[in-house]
Amino acid sequence: MMQPDMFACARSEVGLGPGAVLLGGFALDEAEALLAEIAPLAAISPFRHMTTRSGGRLAVAMFNCGETGWISDGRGYRYQSTDPQTGDRWPALPPRFLDLAARAAAAARYPGFVPDACLVNRYDAQTRLSLHQDMDERDHDAPIVSVSLGLSAAFLWGGLTRSDRPRRHPVHHGDVVVWGGPSRMIFHGVDSVEKGTHPATGPWRYNLTFRKAR
Ligand code: SIN
Ligand code: FE2
Repeated sequence: MMQPDMFACARSEVGLGPGAVLLGGFALDEAEALLAEIAPLAAISPFRHMTTRSGGRLAVAMFNCGETGWISDGRGYRYQSTDPQTGDRWPALPPRFLDLAARAAAAARYPGFVPDACLVNRYDAQTRLSLHQDMDERDHDAPIVSVSLGLSAAFLWGGLTRSDRPRRHPVHHGDVVVWGGPSRMIFHGVDSVEKGTHPATGPWRYNLTFRKAR
């Protein structure tokens, strides 16, 4: 029998650049189910504010699920298979996460995407994420799949150098951005999370970033 999930599709598609697309509403029908996965995962690996090499504190609260996870600490940025806070492996990627990531990637013309890492980010209305490239992954052939849940935000989409002035694209509950190929190393970030409360998440914006890191 066909799964209802098979019919998920983008309600709007905005091309951000070569190999990069914002799939508006792609995950809207399953957004509540995706959110329901977060609390049990966070019971294993809690949200935390990681530190930076220079001793700062990341404004975005995060944890990982998957075979490996992105971390930042006094030694810098890297991936590792265990959660430094618990000493245990990160919780496994829920099948629902894997399935969505693969379907979104395929819709953006990256068939066969099998992520091994999912960074779960949590923002409040004061939180920003400055322009950066996702460059700690070993595999730069695979795309990045980024799912927005809860409060809306402005997604910053820049160029291949930090000085390229970014465009602002609103991202809402259920939107998915996929970038790869010639856009894989584009500078991106998050600005101005909407103030207020979202029916599904209250005061938070969540983002699931799927990557093939190893
Ligand atoms: C990220 O670039 O790691 C997160 C992007 C987002 O929250 O939309
Ligand atoms: Fe990123």
